Amino acid sequence: MSETIKDTVNYIKTHIQVNPEIGIILGTGLGGLVRDIKIEISIPYNEIPHFPVSTVEGHSGKLIFGKLGGKNVLAMQGRFHFYEGYPMSQVIFPVRVMKSLGIKYLFVSNASGGVNPDFEIGDLMIITDHINLLPNPLIGKHNPEFGPRFPDMSDAYDKNLVIRAKAIAKELNIKVQEGVYTATTGPTFETPSEYKYFRIIGSDTVGMSTVPEVIAARQMGIPCFAMSIITDLGVPGKIVEVTHEEVQKVASAAETKMTKIFTRLIEIL
Ligand code: HPA
Repeated sequence: MSETIKDTVNYIKTHIQVNPEIGIILGTGLGGLVRDIKIEISIPYNEIPHFPVSTVEGHSGKLIFGKLGGKNVLAMQGRFHFYEGYPMSQVIFPVRVMKSLGIKYLFVSNASGGVNPDFEIGDLMIITDHINLLPNPLIGKHNPEFGPRFPDMSDAYDKNLVIRAKAIAKELNIKVQEGVYTATTGPTFETPSEYKYFRIIGSDTVGMSTVPEVIAARQMGIPCFAMSIITDLGVPGKIVEVTHEEVQKVASAAETKMTKIFTRLIEIL
């Protein structure tokens, strides 16, 4: 384990009673899942050695330990984005810390722009695959402790978890889409031509997060499950001005449904 991770993990371990089984990363406007966690302890990022501090509105910046769906979870309320100026090593640092704390699964949520013409604002999408247009977070000196130099990405989003999540959504009568999430740097939203390009290359949604964390988790062999809330549409004829406030508003409105799916899926793991 690298010295920095060791420091961070040791600090966290002095504050928690039990190790978490599931790591959860909450996206823009999606921090409300925390209301359903029976919180054991919540640690602000700025108190954790080596932890980056999140700077974006709608991301509050706390590590939350507690129980959700009867399991011990660790939720990141607020994540780190490349567009904030963090090096990729910092963006994925929390996932490596989570692994050292013992997580067996990683759950991720985000807000994104839909480029699939069948999608509507407020829809939920189960991510089945991604296209990474951010710098790869594993570029640089290889540390074999984290896994292979050339990690496989044929099963980035665990197929079994996708099947179970779809069954849960059906059972709970929640409409879900499924598809490919493309990660781009941001922080600009897309031009109409860029949205068109993302659709042509095979995307269903586009956003500025998730993929670095999933790549880091997959290198370490952690199965991942991710969902996206469609907060705006990059579909010809439906493109309107996008603001961060609108993204937060739509995400907050749809998050109860996503929380139900996450909670139930965690319960049956
Ligand atoms: N593009 C990129 N990121 C986003 C979008 C979008 O349209 N909506 C929410 N996050």
